[in-house]
Amino acid sequence: MDHTAPPPFDPQLDAAIRLDGRVAIVTGAGGGLGRAHALALAQRGAQVVVNDLGVSRDGLEAGAAIAEQVAETIRRAGGQAMASTASVCDPEGIEAMVRETMARWGRIDILVNNAGFLRDKSFSNMTMADFEAIIDVHLLGAARCSKAVWDIMKAQRHGRIVMTTSSSGLFGNFGQANYGAAKMGLVGLMQTLAIEGQKYGIRVNCLAPSAATRMTETLFAKDELALLTPERITPGLLYLVSDQAPSKMVLCAGAGVFSCAQVTLTRGLYMEDGPTMAEAILQQSRKIADRTRDIVPYSGFEQSKKELHTAAQARSGAVTRD
Ligand code: NAI
Repeated sequence: MDHTAPPPFDPQLDAAIRLDGRVAIVTGAGGGLGRAHALALAQRGAQVVVNDLGVSRDGLEAGAAIAEQVAETIRRAGGQAMASTASVCDPEGIEAMVRETMARWGRIDILVNNAGFLRDKSFSNMTMADFEAIIDVHLLGAARCSKAVWDIMKAQRHGRIVMTTSSSGLFGNFGQANYGAAKMGLVGLMQTLAIEGQKYGIRVNCLAPSAATRMTETLFAKDELALLTPERITPGLLYLVSDQAPSKMVLCAGAGVFSCAQVTLTRGLYMEDGPTMAEAILQQSRKIADRTRDIVPYSGFEQSKKELHTAAQARSGAVTRD
């Protein structure tokens, strides 16, 4: 499939998910997934800020005018778009982009944190500069952009923020300690922003894609790449920014398959106080890790409350202490 060709634009598209009147910012939207997201958001009626610094795969070479190309593609197809070349690593540039968006369109409904690059190396060979650069662009970049739109979304009582996480953070991948840490950091950022945004109509989610882009072109076979199109990820993004969007969801997407990743808590076992508590944990480690009837707590505080509840029950003899 040719990812460079603009998709057919159908202004009559009869779809339940419409975004007319919504204003969206997509970072890293000059190519790959961000470009597919930006085109689809515009096709659904959103006014789109196409942000991209235009850097190389490792973030070291800058300057390609790809944001403007995507914005122009949207405009030529009858949509509304403006380009931004601000780096998500530059707080002033991000604030200026947000000011310009507000001056032009008066609101910001959707933020898709998608920009980033890779510096893969085994942990032994990775410099701290490579580690920090990846945390800066993926985690801090998303935090900066989210912070810059947060009060606007609060005042509007409507907002949708999507963090682009990765299986690398959720489950680990060789050579991606920096990237995995940043991507799992985004899940943590989502967990709290979703709680804080709830009463203001701000819903925050993560998308974990598997897509054929320049980031992954060497990782998969040709026939696999043909299935892993960005266009098979973007419908998940549209769901996460729709009026009916969930919040606190980690949606995994690839090759047309959609699933959810969750941080779960096992039921837990109470251990008696005493000098051999560590040995008791060792003995019962299988039971402690047993996922039968595990739960997804709504908040970290809920985990502590559950521990206190389980301990109180065990102490009162209400449950078996095996
Ligand atoms: P990509 O390299 O095509 O897209 C990333 C875009 O971000 C590039 O156009 C780049 O110029 C831009 N960018 C980099 N640094 C920037 C900065 N400081 N400010 C603004 N823009 C910047 O790669 P792809 O695959 O489309 O990646 C998009 C997102 O999806 C990334 O966050 C990536 O980590 C994530 N992801 C991708 C996966 C995949 O299978 N392709 C898997 C998991 C996550």
